[in-house]
Amino acid sequence: MPAKILSGLEVSAVVKERVRKAVNELKGQGVQPCLATVLVGDDSASATYVSSKQKTAKELGIATRDHRLKASFMQQELLDLVQLLNNDPKVHGILVQLPFPKHIDEFAITSSISLLKDVDGLTPYSAGMLQNGMAHLKPCTPSGIIEILDYYGIDVAGMDAVILNRSNLVGKPLAFMLLERNATVTICHSKTKGLAEKLRGGDLIVTAVGNRGRFTLTADMVKEGAVVIDVGTSRHGGNMAGDVDFDSVKEKASWITPVPGGVGPMTIAMLMKNTVSAASISRGMQ
Ligand SMILES: NC(=O)c1ccc[n+]([C@@H]2O[C@H](COP(=O)([O-])OP(=O)(O)OC[C@H]3O[C@@H](n4cnc5c(N)ncnc54)[C@H](OP(=O)(O)O)[C@@H]3O)[C@@H](O)[C@H]2O)c1
Repeated sequence: MPAKILSGLEVSAVVKERVRKAVNELKGQGVQPCLATVLVGDDSASATYVSSKQKTAKELGIATRDHRLKASFMQQELLDLVQLLNNDPKVHGILVQLPFPKHIDEFAITSSISLLKDVDGLTPYSAGMLQNGMAHLKPCTPSGIIEILDYYGIDVAGMDAVILNRSNLVGKPLAFMLLERNATVTICHSKTKGLAEKLRGGDLIVTAVGNRGRFTLTADMVKEGAVVIDVGTSRHGGNMAGDVDFDSVKEKASWITPVPGGVGPMTIAMLMKNTVSAASISRGMQ
């Protein structure tokens, strides 16, 4: 029997509706949630992601600031801008779109974001809190994956989970979230030996490579009945594609996310959720 679809579109609609209600409640209490986005350079994929985030925020009643900066913008100027946003009481969430141009140190910028406005969950503080199971603002893509699993009633406790990605944005935070839910987690990457065999051991596979030329998850790498989550985004045959050879893998998996319509919409929905959480925190502090 072909796999059932884990629809990020459906789950994100539910999350966004909750966010819309929370925004209205905050407005009723005199707080206008506000998300500031910062984009450096002219990478077209990044520009599209930022525009989608801006658009969704507006649809949900969240105010936005949109900072689009030339690729030549210097690191110190960027640090100054983040500081301005940190100190602006009307801004509740700050999202700096990655990756940056090469002359900018990603860690220096992400770690300069106020802990209370870290809606991408990328500061060392947020990462440390996540490791301790105490984070309030968690990275959006892995949170979106957990939200999908919860929505469809998939309990990962005791599962062997294989994550193909070790970035701070996806693989590492997701590993902690799955561990917290009692999965046994293996993280794989480009230097992993015996990758196909490790993937075949996964009751849950999360793949986030984003380059079909380098890696494609095919049916022979998937255990019968596995849950397959595809985070990767790339162009393949002129279309947007994930890492997974969907047509063959869906015949073996029990559940599978499509691309598009899987993890992508969840990342944006969870950013909105984090922005509202950050606005609520600021209200509590006031
Ligand atoms: N849908 C969404 O909302 C969403 C959100 C975030 C990211 N993404 C997508 O997810 C993908 C990853 O994003 P990222 O920021 O985490 O990128 P990244 O840092 O470049 O991560 C890619 C990962 O894939 C591994 N890898 C590369 N080639 C491989 C190979 N041949 N075999 C096995 N592993 C390999 C890399 O290993 P090494 O560490 O050894 O280099 C790395 O861990 C991208 O396509 C991105 O667009 C989507």
